[in-house]
Amino acid sequence: MYSAKVMDHFSNPRNVGEIPDANAVSEVGNAKCGDIMKIYMKIDDSEVITDIKFKTFGCGAAVATSSMATEMVKGKTVAEALKLTNKAVAEALDGLPPVKMHCSVLAEEAIKSAIIDYYKRKGVDPTPIVGCD
Ligand code: FES
Ligand code: FES
Repeated sequence: MYSAKVMDHFSNPRNVGEIPDANAVSEVGNAKCGDIMKIYMKIDDSEVITDIKFKTFGCGAAVATSSMATEMVKGKTVAEALKLTNKAVAEALDGLPPVKMHCSVLAEEAIKSAIIDYYKRKGVDPTPIVGCD
């Protein structure tokens, strides 16, 4: 049912934890199952995500997609991170079972929401950058 990559990221998730001095934080819930995810990021002055950690109360697919998503945006700019889709994360994991695709939206939404938090803390209106949803 699950690919080897999903099993790997579920069994050995990358970037789990918290960042006490994070400058971008979010908590999002999955409307479909009620699971939640928290994301912490350190974003430097050139808008590079230098560190990212997550915690989730979610299923195995949520853990694996969060782990992969954090790997994919670490070291990238905020603009690049905003282009990350849950579909790209699922593809990087060699696919998810169709009934588990909704689990992968948690990571995409948490990253986007943390970036909104980052701009709000700087006193910048995030809407023109991030869009509204
Ligand atoms: Fe359990 Fe989506 S409802 S992972
Ligand atoms: Fe809730 Fe997977 S079942 S995130």
